[in-house]
Amino acid sequence: MNLIVAITKNYAIGKNNQLLFHLPTDLAYFKMQTTDKIVVMGERTYLSLPKKPLPKRINIVISDKLDFKAEGAIVVHSLEELLKKIKKYKSKDVFVCGGASIYNLLMDYCDTAYVTYIDKIVPADTFINNLEEHGFKLTEETPAQTENNITFTFRTYKNPHHKKI
Ligand SMILES: NC(=O)c1ccc[n+]([C@@H]2O[C@H](COP(=O)([O-])OP(=O)(O)OC[C@H]3O[C@@H](n4cnc5c(N)ncnc54)[C@H](OP(=O)(O)O)[C@@H]3O)[C@@H](O)[C@H]2O)c1
Repeated sequence: MNLIVAITKNYAIGKNNQLLFHLPTDLAYFKMQTTDKIVVMGERTYLSLPKKPLPKRINIVISDKLDFKAEGAIVVHSLEELLKKIKKYKSKDVFVCGGASIYNLLMDYCDTAYVTYIDKIVPADTFINNLEEHGFKLTEETPAQTENNITFTFRTYKNPHHKKI
């Protein structure tokens, strides 16, 4: 299973249920990585999407509300139900897409993390756990690029000791 996230240096990912930055290159990267794959997200992230479900992807939404409906998406209500559902797909085709509660819930099951890394601190209200403290090692990083005055790199982390489903 993979994780894909845009983070700042202090692991911030969101504010007011929105992303912290508008980076078209990052959105294109997200689309390239996840198209034709399975995307797993929390209810709040699903509701924040401008276009739902994410097109050309199997969308799986985790919600604690038994009556939560997400048109065009599969809804699950627990970690156990989710793991059962994704077991039938190839692990490399499953992408955990947020938000914080879902990254933290599934981080230890991911072998690869695709991280858009923004080397600064900005006001935020949503943070994820430190990937390195969960066993991830940085294996690749692109040269820095700047868009909308934000400098970022694309990083790949691997977690050789991830939990098997
Ligand atoms: N930077 C990025 O790459 C990125 C990507 C995606 C999202 N985000 C940002 O992340 C923020 C949203 O994150 P969030 O943590 O607030 O929300 P979230 O993870 O998107 O969704 C939380 C929902 O999932 C449910 N849930 C979590 N674990 C569950 C479990 N084990 N069983 C059943 N339901 C479960 C929660 O239920 P409870 O109410 O019971 O907790 C809640 O309804 C937004 O700001 C968004 O823009 C950033």
